[in-house]
Formats: sequence, C-alpha cells, structure tokens
Amino acid sequence: MKKFILKITAAGAILASFAYCSNTKQITGFATSLKDAYKNDFLIGTALNTQQIEEKDLKADALIKQQFNAVTPENIMKAEIIHPQWDKYNFDLADKIVAYGTKNNIKVNGHTLIWHSQLPAFARRIKDVDSFKTFFTDHINTVAGRYSGKIFSWDVVNEALNEDGTMRKSIFLDKMGDGFVTEAFRLTEKASPGTELYYNDYNNEQPKKREGCIALVKKVQAAGVRIDGVGIQGHWHLGRVPFKDIEESILAYHALGLKVMITELDIEMLPRNFQGADVNQRQASNPALNPYANGIPDSLLQQQATDYANLFKLFLKHKDKITRVTFWGVNDGQSWLNGWPIPGRTNYPLLFDRAFNPKPAYHAVMALKK
Ligand code: G3I
Repeated sequence: MKKFILKITAAGAILASFAYCSNTKQITGFATSLKDAYKNDFLIGTALNTQQIEEKDLKADALIKQQFNAVTPENIMKAEIIHPQWDKYNFDLADKIVAYGTKNNIKVNGHTLIWHSQLPAFARRIKDVDSFKTFFTDHINTVAGRYSGKIFSWDVVNEALNEDGTMRKSIFLDKMGDGFVTEAFRLTEKASPGTELYYNDYNNEQPKKREGCIALVKKVQAAGVRIDGVGIQGHWHLGRVPFKDIEESILAYHALGLKVMITELDIEMLPRNFQGADVNQRQASNPALNPYANGIPDSLLQQQATDYANLFKLFLKHKDKITRVTFWGVNDGQSWLNGWPIPGRTNYPLLFDRAFNPKPAYHAVMALKK
C-alpha cells in the first residue's frame, strides 16, 4: 500500500489513503469522514479560499469532497471583492463556488452581505444618506438576487455588535441607524425568498454580547421580518473554550425560535492578549509569541483534541438546535490565524495538519460517533 501511494499523484494519495479507510469502514462499520459520522446530526462545513474554489489545490480538493458537506467562501463574497465599484460587480469566483456546491452536492453559505469590514473604497466615501441607502439596497438586491434558489443560506449581517452588546459604530449605523439590520433581512428575504437568513458574530456566546444579539434578533422579529438563525463564529482558544456560555447561548437563541450554527470554528494554539476576531485589532510581532514555528508538542495537540471532543459532545447534546458546524479553513497551514493578529506565525487551529493528515483532534471528534 505504501509503495503504491508513493507512485501516484498527491491528490491521488489522499484519495488512496481514504480508500484504505473505506476498507476499515467495511471491517469495523465506523464512518470514515466527518460528514458521514455526523450525517444525522448537523452539516459539517469548511471555509474555502480562492485556490480551493477553483479546485487548483488538489490535496485540499480531495479532502474537502471527502470530509465536508457545507462550504462558506472565506473572502470572495465580501463586498470589497464582489462589488468593487458603484456599478461594477465581480461574480466570477462567487459563481464558481455556487457551481462547485451544486456539482458536489455541498451546501453553500453566502458570507456576507452586510459587514463593516472589507467594504469597497467607494462605499466608505459615500457622504449622502440617500446615496448610501441606494448602495445598500442595490448591493443586497443584486448579490442576493443573483444566487436566489442556488444558495442554501446567507450571513445577512455580520458583526454588528460591540462586546458590551451595544451596536457597533459603523458606516451602516451612522447612515441608517440601527434599523439597518432589519432592513438588510427584509431586502434579502425579498431578493432570495428560499434562502435561510442568519445573523453572524464572534463572541456572541459571551453574556453581554449575547444579550445584544437577542435584542437585535427580537427587533427584526418584531418588524415581522424573517430571520432563521444565529451564527456563533467560534474563534476559541486552547484550554479556554467557554463551554457554559456556549451552551447558554445555544439555548437562548433556540428559545427565540432560531436555528443555531457554529460558523467559523477554530481553536487557536498561540498566545495573544485579547479575545475575539475583530480583524482591525493587531498585535506587535515578537518571536516569543511564535513558539511552535518548528513543530508543536504532542501534549498540546492532545489538549486540543480534548477541547474539540468536549465541544462536539456539547453540539451533539443540542443537535436538535444546531444545524451546521463549519471550520474556518481546511488545514492548519491555510488558517487565517497564521497571519492574524500577528503576521507570519505558525498556528495549529484545525483538525488537519499542514500535510492534510488528520490530527488527534480529528480522531477525538470522530471517536464520539463510534
Ligand atoms: O486579496 C488580497 C491580495 O490581493 C493581496 O495580495 C494579499 C496580500 O496581503 O491580501 C489579500 O487580501 C487578504 C484577504 O484576507 C484574502 O487573502 C487581506 O489582506 C486579509 O486581511 C484578508 O483576511 C481575511 C479577514 O477575514 C479580513 O477580512 C481572512 O482571510 C478571513 O479568514 C477573515 O475572515 C473573518 C470572517 O470573514 C468574519 N469573522 C472573522 C473572520 C476572521 O477574521
């Protein structure tokens, strides 16, 4: 078997080694992929970068199709990329991920229509309120409308809250007041009636931000506008996963009549001096903050496996409320956490290592279903 793998292409090697696993399945009766193991519980997703959407990263491509049944574009549906100028849209890559989903029977979550970050320069420069509202309306109508009937769900509004649960000061709040959230859901529902509509944020499992999130959802509901779910992003830290807050939040969002999804899961292994995922926050580079550049001790990988296993135990306990768990990247080498909040670090936040091999965390998550 080993000699055979060495002679074939890299992508083939992955498929061949999983073929070997399939034999294991026949012998043991155990599932050999995340999506199969959790098929009766919730969707298992991953974020895709451009190379992966274009199926140019052969090793990743084999693994994605083997392991996942939901995808979210990591960047290419953000306004800066999909709507670079007032009257110019760039649908090339977004069309590709939608076609990729259809071809491979993988559900696509659109990310994201309304977000203060990665806005195109022209939108930031709009001074006049009516022009800004026109931009807002045209953006949603055009982007959501194009993928109506083709996309499973939209992160309609992303990260509109501060840590204390108040509304984040953004160009949307400034120009349209806090009604912009309800308006975004109203427009998306109209442009893409069959699509599930979510509010998505990080740290919204924390009590204060959760209260803000609940108030925001209630406001949309009170206006008679549809909202289907809340995404808890899930950018957590080794040994500090807030299990109690997560469980309380799953229950609280479900009590509003909503579905819950974990939308951007990773468990970070490197030190930093703040929590959350505000892309505008950065930290100065320092070699002491990149301790595992040449490899990570097995004890930490085991600790990560325990954290992931405890998380998935919690998700399984609430599988009637959770509809999807999406990892924010395919393997450790492709994670945004290698470049943020300090560029050039070596992080290990996901279930697959840089060579696409399953880590102890993968085996721990799979073991729960044996
Ligand atoms: O596209 C340019 C490319 O042309 C240029 O050569 C390169 C040089 O740095 O930068 C490229 O843009 C980068 C982009 O990712 C695509 O790789 C940006 O600098 C970089 O800031 C951007 O980071 C993304 C980040 O959002 C900022 O928007 C991460 O990949 C992405 O993982 C991250 O995702 C967010 C979610 O959308 C929302 N929740 C938090 C999460 C993590 O921050």
